Amino acid sequence: MTHQNRFGMFVHWGIYALTGVQEQVFARMDMDRDQYEALAKRFDPQKFDPDKWVLLARDAGMEYVCFTAKHHDGFCMWDTAYSDYKITNTPYGKDVLKMLADSCARHGMKLSVYYSCPDWHHPFGFNPASSHQWKALSDNGTDPDKYLSYVRDQVRELCSNYGPLYTFFWDIPPKIDDPSLNELIRSLQPGIFINDRGYSKGDFSTPERDYTPASGVEAFTRMTEACNSVGEQSWGYRKNEDFFTLRYLTGSIDRMMARGASYLLNVGPDASGKIPEEYASRIRRVGDWYKRMEGALCCHEEDKFDYGVKGGVPIVTRKDGKTYFHFPDGLCSSAFSLRRFPCLPRSVRLLNTGKELSFAYEPLPEFFSEGRAKPYLHITGIPSDELASEAIVIEVIWR
Ligand code: GLC
Repeated sequence: MTHQNRFGMFVHWGIYALTGVQEQVFARMDMDRDQYEALAKRFDPQKFDPDKWVLLARDAGMEYVCFTAKHHDGFCMWDTAYSDYKITNTPYGKDVLKMLADSCARHGMKLSVYYSCPDWHHPFGFNPASSHQWKALSDNGTDPDKYLSYVRDQVRELCSNYGPLYTFFWDIPPKIDDPSLNELIRSLQPGIFINDRGYSKGDFSTPERDYTPASGVEAFTRMTEACNSVGEQSWGYRKNEDFFTLRYLTGSIDRMMARGASYLLNVGPDASGKIPEEYASRIRRVGDWYKRMEGALCCHEEDKFDYGVKGGVPIVTRKDGKTYFHFPDGLCSSAFSLRRFPCLPRSVRLLNTGKELSFAYEPLPEFFSEGRAKPYLHITGIPSDELASEAIVIEVIWR
């Protein structure tokens, strides 16, 4: 088993949702501590229905949900025995992680947890070696061992009380090497995948918001899980979010998944517990595209044949003897052409529409050498303008 080519929903949810600004509003907007921590006394997400979240993800073709059990603010979204700064001490009073875990189990979805190494609430959470820090909270300065024992206790709870966990998502590398934490996770959750932002190396790398059109066509050499949010300014709920275009999101997902990565697409539920429609609709629309790809994003084998492509720089993958040409950034015309190919195709199909495309092996006047048009496998009739808002994937079945 590898953590490869899985599509999942990232969920950033905490008391910060009440501000409608960003999950790190406390530090980034320099809020007063008492004012921030008092949000816990108002957190009462009466509309939280974990089934709605889980089914939104499942209907989009996703296989797992990764939930922020504890973000940098240190607020715990489960009923931890090691802190009072937790969901069961809010007016809502229920263990939302448990509710989400039960819902995932009911709907056949996997559950992952996110846990922040920085902690702006714990008296010994301050770690000057790492980033995303607030300030030392204790008069005694720092005591990494006390904080690490808190982390260990909480990890034990998370890995013992919420059923099988699929991945463990540490955040913000603490720059402290303590392999015993990942070992503890593995001893309680055999088969789990752990990311590379924790206290030792972990299993997979985590490029974040990392999408530059036209970059990188090679397969990843290490297990990778890319992540991005549906909006640009925040991971947690933001009232005036700058939402990404469908073109950008599908391009990013295609470019990462075609190269073998898993992909977490994030939403920020609001303080009522709902995933607001602006967020949910983007998951649905991306999911609609994703399902039309018919699993072509899950063929992680790189096709290294030298096709000599004209008309774009596709990522080329293979699965069951079929070849997939991925154009995450779309096509610049209604055709593309291959100078070389193993044999003539039996069929060429545009996965976005499910329709067959025409092809011919013919000389193309603009592609010439020594003054003569060279023959190309010319694949035509692609409605590239109509598909301008999504990544384009074309399947070729050879004879
Ligand atoms: C960044 C953000 C953090 C978010 C994380 C998700 O590290 O600073 O708030 O939780 O990305 O990967």
